[in-house]
Amino acid sequence: MIMERYPNARTIAIVCTQWGDTGKGKFVDYFAEWADIIARGTGGANAGHTIVINGTQYIFHLIPSGILYDKQGKMNVIGNGTVVYPYVITHELTILQKANMTHNNLRISHRAKLVLPQHIVLDRLRECGADGKIGTTGRGIGPAYEDHYARIGLTMNDILNPDSFVTKLRRNLKDKVQFLRTVDPEVLREIMQHEYLQFGAYFNPNTIFDEDAIVANYLSYAEVLRDMICDTDEMVRCMWGRHNILLEGAQGHLLSVDFGTYQFVTSSDCSIQGLAKGVGLSEKQVDIVFGIANAFFMKRVGEGPFPTELGGAHSATWCGTKGVTRTTELEQFGNVSVNDPDPFRQGIGIRMAAREYGSTTGRPRRIGWLDLPLLRYAVQTGIQKLILTKLDCLDSCETIHICNAYVYEGPDHWLGNCLLQKGDHIAIAVPDAEVLQYCKPLYQTFPGWNEPTGNVRTYDDLPDALKKLVAYVSHEVHREVAILSVGPEREQTIVR
Ligand code: GDP
Ligand code: IMO
Ligand code: MG
Repeated sequence: MIMERYPNARTIAIVCTQWGDTGKGKFVDYFAEWADIIARGTGGANAGHTIVINGTQYIFHLIPSGILYDKQGKMNVIGNGTVVYPYVITHELTILQKANMTHNNLRISHRAKLVLPQHIVLDRLRECGADGKIGTTGRGIGPAYEDHYARIGLTMNDILNPDSFVTKLRRNLKDKVQFLRTVDPEVLREIMQHEYLQFGAYFNPNTIFDEDAIVANYLSYAEVLRDMICDTDEMVRCMWGRHNILLEGAQGHLLSVDFGTYQFVTSSDCSIQGLAKGVGLSEKQVDIVFGIANAFFMKRVGEGPFPTELGGAHSATWCGTKGVTRTTELEQFGNVSVNDPDPFRQGIGIRMAAREYGSTTGRPRRIGWLDLPLLRYAVQTGIQKLILTKLDCLDSCETIHICNAYVYEGPDHWLGNCLLQKGDHIAIAVPDAEVLQYCKPLYQTFPGWNEPTGNVRTYDDLPDALKKLVAYVSHEVHREVAILSVGPEREQTIVR
């Protein structure tokens, strides 16, 4: 276990340096062995964190990925910075119960923001139109955070107090109902039929929302969750410095509303700053921040610029097409490989080999080569050590391309007091969709290693060609690569 090397570290964090889905679940589970408390601080059920133990796969959307160590009495916390849809938590608790795992070690911040049915409806409605589509997960994340900043949101604490819950719910619904009356009732009816909205149980064609149904359901969640809701900020602060604390990032730096590729981002600050704040700490109280990156390909789900995307716009459109799944791709592209000469097909080959389909929505993840300008940008904000994951997925790839810089190919564009012009070279990405969409990658090309790595357990035993790539990335972004991952299982982990 790598933490033996850092005996003085008491608080560490795992954050993603890319657009999410890089293996946070696997590594939170890995570090949970060391931790006494595992805490999430941002996002909600938009996250999908996968853990594989002895071939069994668990996916958590809200409950921290340390929960599988429950028998050893580790505390798992859903912090104040998260947006919580109680339906998802109760569902995940049921999964744990079925697997005979206790969950009396879960605590939810009384100040975590409450996701309500109206948030999910608004989120899904916005995504119906072609204009301004983000490709969200449809979990109500944006509208829930909007309400928080508009100071009309509800918190987990409100479900414990029925009278104030009803008063606040009515106030929260008022403007939304007025707006939703202007929407085609058939569109609304269809959205409301979603499983997440209790198959229409919250819908009333006259009042739009059935307030009584919402109240009844949320108060019933309170009965299940009551004992878990508490002041987790206070709890984390009391444990700080005395116990081992592991902060679990959600989403990724490039999806942060404050630091990401705006406006194609989520609505929380999923950087280390947002994460620490979301559990009641400051990032200065975190001893080591591990940043996870997929190598040597990367991916994103949803809309937004992706300079190194294999197949470019063709891939973005294909991955955004409703109904495209792994089964569709196997049927249509069953014979493509990670070495296909056509970039679009090569992207599909890598996606199929690496099984890159969303853990939350099942959508195909868009695939591209590792982008160092974006990684250089992401590590600037407090990342001390890198974890490179999914190395095994390119075991049979003959040639690896790594983007080392961009050439800007767009119209003149002011960036503050700097004028960006066609032909300019960029080494550290500008996280702005208007700029990134015109950035053409410049690649360095390397030979692949062409041997299986899934059973390798020491750095020295890795193929030389792979070690050369690791050294190259580490040198280019000025960060130590501390851990490498060669498979989804706990033990498929190499400490450097
Ligand atoms: P997260 O959101 O960052 O927790 O990542 P996801 O769970 O959404 O997606 C990562 C996927 O990659 C999961 O299916 C993991 O089991 C899997 N995974 C993690 N690390 C590795 C690795 O090194 N190799 C392979 N093949 N799969 C990995
Ligand atoms: P984990 O924690 C990958 C993306 C969505 C969309 C954008 C906004 O598993 O890494 P939202 O529903 O948050 O309003 O969607 O952010 N997104 C993620 N992509 N992994 C995630 O979480 C994500 N959470 C949100 O696809 O592009
Ligand atoms: Mg995920």
